[in-house]
Amino acid sequence: MATLTPLLNALADLTETEPGTEAFVTANILRSAASTKKFRLEPPSILDAEIRAAAQSPDALPAARLVAAAQSFLLWQASPAAALQPSGLAATKAVVTLVSPEGPIHASDIRCGLYFQAPGTYYPLHAHNAAETYTILAGTALWQAGNDRSPRDPGAAIHHPPRMPHAMRAGPNGFLAIWRWSGDIAFESYHMIPDPEDPAR
Ligand SMILES: [Fe+2]
Repeated sequence: MATLTPLLNALADLTETEPGTEAFVTANILRSAASTKKFRLEPPSILDAEIRAAAQSPDALPAARLVAAAQSFLLWQASPAAALQPSGLAATKAVVTLVSPEGPIHASDIRCGLYFQAPGTYYPLHAHNAAETYTILAGTALWQAGNDRSPRDPGAAIHHPPRMPHAMRAGPNGFLAIWRWSGDIAFESYHMIPDPEDPAR
């Protein structure tokens, strides 16, 4: 029977390659849950086919294949911040929350999970008080972090300090990533920023 154990251990291994206390703490939380936490069966994401296709791309990290293998235990939802985003954006991306104050793995001061953005779509500039790190597991993106705009491939880790504006344009296979918030992890500070590249403008 498939479980989340191999995936959570792989995400812990990836997370602890980043320096810093938050990464170390998150890796320990993931690894502890890997051996103790039971997860329910969940319905497939509306982007299930796209997520599986990205996970099969040749340069995907092994953790991406574990995401595909564990799909039936992953609850893909609209972003927790979807209510603060423009309508239409929610259908282009999907989020799994693994660690948060609300669970399923409980932590009072960390949020961590998976993120998928559909092929060719654009997530316009936004910012929040939480410090954030994404690590790409599969697919590619043109990533804006502050004044830096760079193509990002599997294995790339992108850090956003608190309140740094960021935006992502997904490549032809979309992209799958692990994400983590630390510091001020409340959603109230999340906001969109006027973005001349936003197709909805
Ligand atoms: Fe963010």
